[in-house]
Amino acid sequence: MDEAPAQPAHIAALALAGLRARPKTLPAQLFYDEAGCALFYRITELPEYYLTRTERAMLPAVAAEVAALLPGPAALVEYGASEETKAGFLLDRDRAGAPAFAAYVPIDIAAPALAALRARLARSRPGLAVHPVAADFQHHVALPGAVAGLARLGFFPGSTIGNLDPPQARAFLGTARAALGDTALMLVGVDLRKDPALLLAAYDDSAGVTAAFNRNLLARLNREAGADFDPAAFDHRAVWNAAESRIEMHLVSRRAQSARLAGVVLRFEAGETIHTENSYKHTIEGFAALARDAGWRAARVWTDPAGLYSMHLLAG
Ligand code: AVI
Repeated sequence: MDEAPAQPAHIAALALAGLRARPKTLPAQLFYDEAGCALFYRITELPEYYLTRTERAMLPAVAAEVAALLPGPAALVEYGASEETKAGFLLDRDRAGAPAFAAYVPIDIAAPALAALRARLARSRPGLAVHPVAADFQHHVALPGAVAGLARLGFFPGSTIGNLDPPQARAFLGTARAALGDTALMLVGVDLRKDPALLLAAYDDSAGVTAAFNRNLLARLNREAGADFDPAAFDHRAVWNAAESRIEMHLVSRRAQSARLAGVVLRFEAGETIHTENSYKHTIEGFAALARDAGWRAARVWTDPAGLYSMHLLAG
């Protein structure tokens, strides 16, 4: 996952903008400091959090079919790529007796994670040209000139697109299409709308890891921006918002309290919430329509046998 910018003043400004709004919010980009990344990794291994293991089980067959559809030797362009496990399913594929991918372009805001990824791939896949790009994938990212002559496959796994609201998701898909070009393909992992009980369990697990991930936002503000929140005085709450088709995460103040951040005193009523994350759940038709609005053609879709999760192949 992306690591958010580390300057204390920047973090404090981001947090204050949300905490002064009504209702109070904190930006989800602040989740992913080192502790938050470690907690997110634990979430992906939880029995209730079906997303990661379901996508992983689908990827070998999906990757084989997608590789066969490539028009020629290709560049794999992964958005939000701080490690290469999922890309590996595609990078392993052959096409017409040769590796399907001649180049890999991991795009991520965390430059140190990209450097480590490049070093690992130099050892494990010495024949692969790796061109990391340190950038926020929500902005236009020009592809490295070295991949100009190759076919392109964009790759956005993990249902990270669910953390973007529909206008942001459309904007991202449109921007990616402009960068990848008219003849590109794009493979996107998208969690599906389903029984709210399953969703609520996935975002409020019995071991309390998601609660710790949510409270880490406040702990991070204490560590990095000199705030004095009492994270234990906030409850984790996951809510299914059916009208918006999203799981929301909130931190709920257990009592009337105040905390100080960058010289500003922030007051919380008992029961007042800080809205920390949205995770949109799409229908297959709804996501295909969103992709079409962004200029793509919905070419193929795969789901797991239980219909929990989908992978969409979009064509330019
Ligand atoms: C990173 N992203 C796809 C996760 C999700 O499912 O929305 C983040 C997460 N938040 C709580 N649990 C996992």
